[in-house]
Amino acid sequence: MKDFLLAPSILSADFSRLGEEVNKVLSAGGDWIHFDVMDNHYVPNLSMGPMILKSLRNYNITVPIDVHLMTKPVDNLIPQFAQAGANFITFHPESTDHIDRTLNLIKEHGCKAGLAFNPSTSLHFLDYVIEKLDLILLMSVNPGFGNQSFLPLTINKLREVRKRIDLSLLDIYLEVDGGVKLENISEIACSGANVFVIGSGIFDYPDYHRIIKNIRQELKYSHFNSIH
Ligand code: DX5
Ligand code: ZN
Repeated sequence: MKDFLLAPSILSADFSRLGEEVNKVLSAGGDWIHFDVMDNHYVPNLSMGPMILKSLRNYNITVPIDVHLMTKPVDNLIPQFAQAGANFITFHPESTDHIDRTLNLIKEHGCKAGLAFNPSTSLHFLDYVIEKLDLILLMSVNPGFGNQSFLPLTINKLREVRKRIDLSLLDIYLEVDGGVKLENISEIACSGANVFVIGSGIFDYPDYHRIIKNIRQELKYSHFNSIH
């Protein structure tokens, strides 16, 4: 069975006890931790910086940390997040003047590189850099806040990116971010995503084990439906 990964977004966690929340969501079955960085400039909100990531590493969180930069510019933050312990660093093409240079910078610092697409961002940004990507993130809401509704236009966009990845024969994660819930994850998975960022769809539930178990069950059905 193809692998589906869950990346709980800690933007929806209780920040007053972040380490505990992260441990809880991982022992409930989360695969990666999705770490949203917002600067009140590229998006109208402020969230977390590299010191908080570092403190999670010091708290013995060892799983992949998937940093999603919603900042402008991005280059000066890349070495800081790499040193703090990021595994993936993803940025938006509109947030840098030189996409290729920023991708190189991420690699030079030993991290995997991702490119993130807002709902209205064209996929043409993939044309000349897909070989350098480890991950493509499709935003299914406008970035800046948790708990927004999934935009249906994302379904066709996911199919399109899935085609491009398969044609390229490259090993690239296709991650979807925003409004992913138990109720829609199966359709999203059938459209080609294999990494699911989920914030409120996990953290707003009292029992992380139970909600993650139900989500995995949905993913199992979606796999069954897509091969039959
Ligand atoms: C939004 C962030 C998301 C957010 C998703 O700008 O990039 O990662 O936390 O939250 P939910 O799953 O609640 O839509
Ligand atoms: Zn995100």
